[in-house]
Amino acid sequence: MLTEISNTELDALVERDRVHKRVYTDPAIFDLEMERLWGRAWVFVGHESQVPKSGDYFSTSIGTQGVIMTRDKSNNINVLFNRCSHKGAQLVGDDAGHVAQFRCPYHGYVFETDGILAHIPQEAGYQGSDFCKGKKESNIRQVPRMQIYRGFVFASLTADGDELETWLGPTISSFDNILDRSPLGEIEICGGRLRYLHDANWKILLENVSDNMHAPVTHQSAYQPARMVGENFKPEDKPLEIEMLERFGSSYEVADSANYITSRYGHCYADGAITSGSSHDEKSKYVSGLIEVHGLKKTREILNMSRQNTIIYPSIAFKSTMQTIRVYRPLAVDKTIQETWTYKLKGAPEELFEDSIRYNQLVFSPSSIAAHDDYEAYHRIQHGLQTQGLEWVSQHRNLDEDISNSDGTRKSSGTSEMTFRNEFQAWQEYMLDERV
Ligand code: FES
Ligand SMILES: [Fe+2]
Repeated sequence: MLTEISNTELDALVERDRVHKRVYTDPAIFDLEMERLWGRAWVFVGHESQVPKSGDYFSTSIGTQGVIMTRDKSNNINVLFNRCSHKGAQLVGDDAGHVAQFRCPYHGYVFETDGILAHIPQEAGYQGSDFCKGKKESNIRQVPRMQIYRGFVFASLTADGDELETWLGPTISSFDNILDRSPLGEIEICGGRLRYLHDANWKILLENVSDNMHAPVTHQSAYQPARMVGENFKPEDKPLEIEMLERFGSSYEVADSANYITSRYGHCYADGAITSGSSHDEKSKYVSGLIEVHGLKKTREILNMSRQNTIIYPSIAFKSTMQTIRVYRPLAVDKTIQETWTYKLKGAPEELFEDSIRYNQLVFSPSSIAAHDDYEAYHRIQHGLQTQGLEWVSQHRNLDEDISNSDGTRKSSGTSEMTFRNEFQAWQEYMLDERV
């Protein structure tokens, strides 16, 4: 236990229509989140395609714990703590690479890619001690649980709890949709990680993903010029970049018409069906490849499933239509790393991946003319909440308008704050109930 905050005190921070600002600003709450929420949830680590060959590794974090995803000699995936078993030095930096074995940069102890201690310099000095090859405690420690769903690697710092697929619940269909869009049923993460450090709490970044009320205001300076430029083109000649930016100015009515679906543990997805063929011509090479695999009816279903945003709480959000993934890595109560990744649909034409890169650069990168609007908003929220202004943060919009579905999910309009309320329901469940 890191801090003394009673369950009664924690419980009082989340009400049905508002949350107390302390959940975003109190360092003691952040420490408790790392222990109870990020320490218990399944957290996205990476994708198998990032470590395709034996000896490949990929370094990231689970909450504030540094971890390494590796592919070992037996071709198995491991998630290891990034901590040498000798005196604790990190084995690798925040990067990816390929090794025959890990050699600690401090005293040179060598470990296999599954964490087993392989070599100690001047080993005779350990004779008769408890630190030696063959002893479990001398190996790099594996994260207690690791499970993979169709190539997506998740790990948990807690040994017990729901299996990954149960925990993902109905939102698992968003992963299926990602893979169904590939004629080979597989994806490959490519194109590097765009990484930003934000002066804001991780929950502020995550809430922004399903906040459809902000775009027409926050991104006005991006979509208005795009519309003006767009008037100079016939619809069929309009550059993709202009189309992408114009969408930020969709009306509140359009935003409302999308549905948000929430499920247990804070997950949600946008379920706005688009009309068949509006994003891909059925005669295109890509769609005919899909039709060969799935048939016309199923292909239409796959492409019409427009998961503009899916959030797997608390660590990942993705857009299956734009082949982009956002990964959240909290560092402190007011510091969060956000990474944006792109992926290829295996078997699909290269142009789809090129569009994904263009979208990532246009909407998420430092050179974006839309991303910095959000980035400024994150900082402003964090700084506003730190003032002695009001104590509470509103989540009142469309309260009591959720519709319960038979599979346990709930549905509301695209501008409802149901998604935030659902995230905080999960937050309470993790933070209060030690059995989660
Ligand atoms: S800390 Fe790694 S070898 Fe000493
Ligand atoms: Fe935004």
